[in-house]
Amino acid sequence: MVAAVGMTLLASSAALPTGAQTTKDTAASAAVVASPADAAALVNEAYAERFSNVCAACHGANGRSDMAGTPVLAGQHSLYAITQLFLLREGRRNNAAMVAIAKSMTDADLRGYSGFIGTLPPVPAPAPPVAPEEARMKTGQALAQQHKCVFCHGSALDGGQGVPRIGGQKEDYVRAALHGYKTGDRPGYTRAMSEALSQVPVGDLDTLAYYVANFIGK
Ligand code: HEC
Ligand code: HEC
Repeated sequence: MVAAVGMTLLASSAALPTGAQTTKDTAASAAVVASPADAAALVNEAYAERFSNVCAACHGANGRSDMAGTPVLAGQHSLYAITQLFLLREGRRNNAAMVAIAKSMTDADLRGYSGFIGTLPPVPAPAPPVAPEEARMKTGQALAQQHKCVFCHGSALDGGQGVPRIGGQKEDYVRAALHGYKTGDRPGYTRAMSEALSQVPVGDLDTLAYYVANFIGK
């Protein structure tokens, strides 16, 4: 079961601070560090560096890039991030570039990268060249209420734990995600999203994506 394996990963991440399963360098330094908190900080530093070497080219140094189809990671929750890296590694999300990267990750990498992502503060979207259409935003807001998006993602659309922050996420990416859940192309870590979208007409998905991407919080 995907869920069971994932939960083991998550459970063991709670025991991470020993530094036992990190890269060789970090493990060696962690061994001479007195407290588990120091060891955890070292692990985070190591993955901060790896993130800037490997991931920043697409996702941006601060976790927000302009690259089409590439999600914002800034402000994303580590528990959500680890479930997605796990699904990507299993090939259960079908972006070739990101799947290839995830396939090279060990369990310690899944924990290390998602832990680091959880430390990236949210970065607001740059002001759009033209203000979002008011009428379309209103329709989107009503749909988000009607279909209980806010019930799980929160009224600030900032999520928490295994529920992703979606407010200010890239519109093209959100649109693709919603259509992916709707068609079953993106099964998700749980059935939460396919069930949430089961009553939403396909024709309303783009309006929801527009609303979510242009949402600037309360
Ligand atoms: C070649 C560009 C590229 C690189 C390099 C890259 N990513 Fe990604 N990443 C993507 C794309 C594109 C997606 C969206 C995949 C999809 O649409 O299913 C993604 C998705 C993700 C997601 C899921 C986000 C979400 O909101 O569901 C995470 C987490 C992630 N990447 C982490 C990383 C980490 C960590 C690294 C470095 C080890 C990395 N990525 C390197 C392009 C990249
Ligand atoms: C029952 C709780 C629940 C409800 C209701 C819900 N979501 Fe979600 N949503 C989740 C969870 C959990 C995930 C992560 C799913 C996965 O593993 O892919 C998610 C993922 C997403 C993503 C993907 C984000 C990313 O970074 O890839 C988007 C976009 C999204 N939801 C939008 C919505 C919208 C719009 C609605 C309302 C129509 C909605 N959600 C309703 C729980 C919910």
